[in-house]
Amino acid sequence: MRVGICVSGQGSNLRNLVARGFEVVAVATNRPSCGGAAFARERGIPLAELSQRAFASVEDRDAAMRDFFIGHGVELVVDAGYDRVHSAPFLEAFGGRIINVHPSLLPAFAGGMDAIEQALAAGVERTGATVHLVTDRLDAGPILMQEPVPILPGDTADSLRQRVHEAEYRLLPAAIRMMEERIAHSPAVG
Ligand code: GRF
Repeated sequence: MRVGICVSGQGSNLRNLVARGFEVVAVATNRPSCGGAAFARERGIPLAELSQRAFASVEDRDAAMRDFFIGHGVELVVDAGYDRVHSAPFLEAFGGRIINVHPSLLPAFAGGMDAIEQALAAGVERTGATVHLVTDRLDAGPILMQEPVPILPGDTADSLRQRVHEAEYRLLPAAIRMMEERIAHSPAVG
Protein backbone atom coordinates (compact mmCIF):
# COMPACT_ATOMS: atom_id res chain seq x y z
CA MET A 1 0.00 0.00 0.00
CA ARG A 2 1.28 3.43 -0.97
CA VAL A 3 1.91 5.45 2.18
CA GLY A 4 2.43 9.22 2.47
CA ILE A 5 4.04 10.55 5.64
CA CYS A 6 3.59 13.97 7.26
CA VAL A 7 6.54 14.88 9.43
CA SER A 8 7.74 17.89 11.44
CA GLY A 9 10.42 16.41 13.72
CA GLN A 10 13.37 14.05 13.84
CA GLY A 11 11.51 11.41 11.84
CA SER A 12 12.48 8.26 13.69
CA ASN A 13 9.06 6.70 13.00
CA LEU A 14 9.52 7.51 9.32
CA ARG A 15 12.95 5.83 9.37
CA ASN A 16 11.48 2.80 11.11
CA LEU A 17 8.74 2.39 8.49
CA VAL A 18 11.24 2.63 5.64
CA ALA A 19 13.59 0.18 7.40
CA ARG A 20 10.71 -2.28 7.74
CA GLY A 21 10.01 -2.11 4.03
CA PHE A 22 6.79 -0.10 3.97
CA GLU A 23 6.08 1.53 0.63
CA VAL A 24 6.69 5.16 1.63
CA VAL A 25 6.09 6.98 -1.66
CA ALA A 26 5.94 10.60 -0.49
CA VAL A 27 6.85 12.74 2.52
CA ALA A 28 5.38 16.16 3.29
CA THR A 29 6.71 18.57 5.86
CA ASN A 30 5.85 22.01 7.19
CA ARG A 31 9.43 22.21 8.55
CA PRO A 32 11.94 21.76 5.74
CA SER A 33 14.88 21.78 8.19
CA CYS A 34 13.60 18.84 10.27
CA GLY A 35 15.33 15.48 10.50
CA GLY A 36 12.48 13.68 8.79
CA ALA A 37 12.81 15.91 5.72
CA ALA A 38 16.59 15.34 5.68
CA PHE A 39 16.01 11.59 5.71
CA ALA A 40 13.55 11.80 2.79
CA ARG A 41 16.13 13.76 0.77
CA GLU A 42 18.90 11.26 1.60
CA ARG A 43 16.71 8.36 0.49
CA GLY A 44 15.37 10.12 -2.59
CA ILE A 45 11.78 9.88 -1.38
CA PRO A 46 9.67 12.62 -3.04
CA LEU A 47 9.44 15.47 -0.53
CA ALA A 48 7.02 18.40 -0.38
CA GLU A 49 8.41 21.33 1.59
CA LEU A 50 5.31 23.25 2.62
CA SER A 51 6.29 26.04 4.99
CA GLN A 52 3.17 27.90 6.06
CA ARG A 53 4.76 31.24 5.19
CA ALA A 54 4.76 30.30 1.51
CA PHE A 55 0.95 30.09 1.49
CA ALA A 56 -1.81 32.64 2.00
CA SER A 57 -3.83 30.30 4.24
CA VAL A 58 -3.73 26.98 6.03
CA GLU A 59 -6.29 25.69 3.52
CA ASP A 60 -4.02 26.63 0.60
CA ARG A 61 -1.10 24.81 2.22
CA ASP A 62 -3.22 21.74 2.88
CA ALA A 63 -4.60 21.78 -0.67
CA ALA A 64 -0.99 21.69 -1.93
CA MET A 65 -0.26 18.76 0.38
CA ARG A 66 -3.39 16.97 -0.83
CA ASP A 67 -2.42 17.45 -4.48
CA PHE A 68 1.14 16.27 -3.80
CA PHE A 69 -0.05 13.06 -2.13
CA ILE A 70 -2.73 12.37 -4.74
CA GLY A 71 -0.11 12.93 -7.45
CA HIS A 72 2.01 10.20 -5.87
CA GLY A 73 -0.89 7.79 -5.59
CA VAL A 74 -0.97 7.86 -1.78
CA GLU A 75 -3.57 5.50 -0.32
CA LEU A 76 -2.88 6.07 3.38
CA VAL A 77 -1.52 9.16 5.16
CA VAL A 78 0.51 8.68 8.34
CA ASP A 79 1.14 11.62 10.64
CA ALA A 80 4.45 10.62 12.23
CA GLY A 81 5.41 13.53 14.43
CA TYR A 82 3.43 16.08 12.44
CA ASP A 83 2.72 19.16 14.54
CA ARG A 84 -0.30 20.60 12.70
CA VAL A 85 -3.95 19.61 12.38
CA HIS A 86 -5.22 19.02 8.85
CA SER A 87 -7.82 21.43 7.47
CA ALA A 88 -10.87 20.73 5.33
CA PRO A 89 -9.26 20.36 1.87
CA PHE A 90 -6.99 17.61 3.15
CA LEU A 91 -9.52 15.87 5.39
CA GLU A 92 -12.13 15.80 2.62
CA ALA A 93 -9.73 14.05 0.25
CA PHE A 94 -8.24 11.56 2.71
CA GLY A 95 -10.97 11.26 5.37
CA GLY A 96 -10.81 7.88 7.08
CA ARG A 97 -7.36 7.26 5.58
CA ILE A 98 -5.22 9.40 7.88
CA ILE A 99 -3.68 7.99 11.05
CA ASN A 100 -1.62 9.63 13.78
CA VAL A 101 0.73 8.25 16.39
CA HIS A 102 0.57 9.94 19.79
CA PRO A 103 2.86 9.28 22.78
CA SER A 104 0.25 8.51 25.44
CA LEU A 105 -2.67 6.22 26.10
CA LEU A 106 -5.34 8.53 24.69
CA PRO A 107 -7.58 10.08 25.88
CA ALA A 108 -4.98 10.68 28.62
CA PHE A 109 -2.48 13.47 27.92
CA ALA A 110 -4.06 14.60 24.64
CA GLY A 111 -3.80 17.91 22.93
CA GLY A 112 -0.19 18.94 23.03
CA MET A 113 3.43 18.31 22.25
CA ASP A 114 4.37 17.40 25.83
CA ALA A 115 2.49 14.17 26.53
CA ILE A 116 5.65 12.54 27.92
CA GLU A 117 6.29 15.38 30.35
CA GLN A 118 2.60 15.44 31.33
CA ALA A 119 2.67 11.72 32.17
CA LEU A 120 5.79 12.13 34.31
CA ALA A 121 4.35 15.15 36.10
CA ALA A 122 1.07 13.31 36.78
CA GLY A 123 2.91 10.55 38.65
CA VAL A 124 1.07 7.74 36.86
CA GLU A 125 2.59 4.25 36.72
CA ARG A 126 2.15 3.79 33.03
CA THR A 127 1.61 5.70 29.86
CA GLY A 128 1.97 4.40 26.30
CA ALA A 129 1.41 4.99 22.63
CA THR A 130 -1.77 5.28 20.59
CA VAL A 131 -2.51 5.15 16.88
CA HIS A 132 -5.83 6.75 15.97
CA LEU A 133 -7.75 7.92 12.94
CA VAL A 134 -7.33 11.64 12.30
CA THR A 135 -10.35 13.93 12.30
CA ASP A 136 -10.65 17.69 12.67
CA ARG A 137 -10.43 17.29 16.46
CA LEU A 138 -6.88 17.17 17.82
CA ASP A 139 -5.89 13.74 19.18
CA ALA A 140 -9.56 12.75 19.41
CA GLY A 141 -10.30 10.50 16.42
CA PRO A 142 -11.28 6.84 16.84
CA ILE A 143 -8.52 4.76 18.42
CA LEU A 144 -7.09 1.92 16.32
CA MET A 145 -4.40 0.47 18.61
CA GLN A 146 -2.64 1.19 21.87
CA GLU A 147 0.38 -0.18 23.70
CA PRO A 148 1.02 0.56 27.37
CA VAL A 149 4.51 1.54 28.55
CA PRO A 150 5.56 1.40 32.22
CA ILE A 151 7.00 4.46 33.91
CA LEU A 152 9.98 3.28 35.96
CA PRO A 153 11.57 4.79 39.07
CA GLY A 154 14.21 7.32 38.02
CA ASP A 155 12.71 7.84 34.55
CA THR A 156 13.51 11.17 32.92
CA ALA A 157 11.64 12.65 29.97
CA ASP A 158 14.40 11.32 27.72
CA SER A 159 14.38 7.76 29.06
CA LEU A 160 10.60 7.58 28.99
CA ARG A 161 10.43 9.09 25.51
CA GLN A 162 12.85 6.42 24.28
CA ARG A 163 10.70 3.62 25.74
CA VAL A 164 7.52 5.12 24.25
CA HIS A 165 9.23 5.45 20.87
CA GLU A 166 10.11 1.75 20.97
CA ALA A 167 6.41 0.99 21.49
CA GLU A 168 5.58 3.27 18.55
CA TYR A 169 7.99 1.36 16.32
CA ARG A 170 5.88 -1.77 16.93
CA LEU A 171 2.46 -0.13 16.99
CA LEU A 172 2.56 2.05 13.89
CA PRO A 173 3.52 -0.82 11.52
CA ALA A 174 0.74 -2.95 13.02
CA ALA A 175 -1.78 -0.13 12.57
CA ILE A 176 -0.73 0.40 8.95
CA ARG A 177 -1.32 -3.28 8.26
CA MET A 178 -4.75 -2.98 9.88
CA MET A 179 -5.56 0.01 7.66
CA GLU A 180 -4.33 -1.88 4.63
CA GLU A 181 -6.99 -4.51 5.31
CA ARG A 182 -9.70 -1.85 5.66
CA ILE A 183 -8.67 0.10 2.60
CA ALA A 184 -8.60 -3.03 0.47
CA HIS A 185 -12.36 -3.10 0.97
CA SER A 186 -13.21 0.57 0.38
CA PRO A 187 -13.36 2.88 -2.67
CA ALA A 188 -10.38 4.83 -4.07
CA VAL A 189 -9.19 8.28 -2.95
CA GLY A 190 -10.22 11.22 -5.07
C1 GRF B 1 6.33 10.61 18.44
O1 GRF B 1 6.51 10.41 19.81
C2 GRF B 1 4.87 10.68 18.10
O2 GRF B 1 4.07 9.95 18.97
C3 GRF B 1 4.57 12.15 18.25
O3 GRF B 1 5.71 12.79 17.79
C4 GRF B 1 6.85 11.96 17.99
C5 GRF B 1 7.57 11.86 16.68
O4 GRF B 1 8.80 11.24 16.81
N1 GRF B 1 3.37 12.53 17.55
P1 GRF B 1 9.71 10.98 15.53
O5 GRF B 1 9.86 12.32 14.81
O6 GRF B 1 9.03 9.96 14.68
O7 GRF B 1 11.01 10.50 16.07
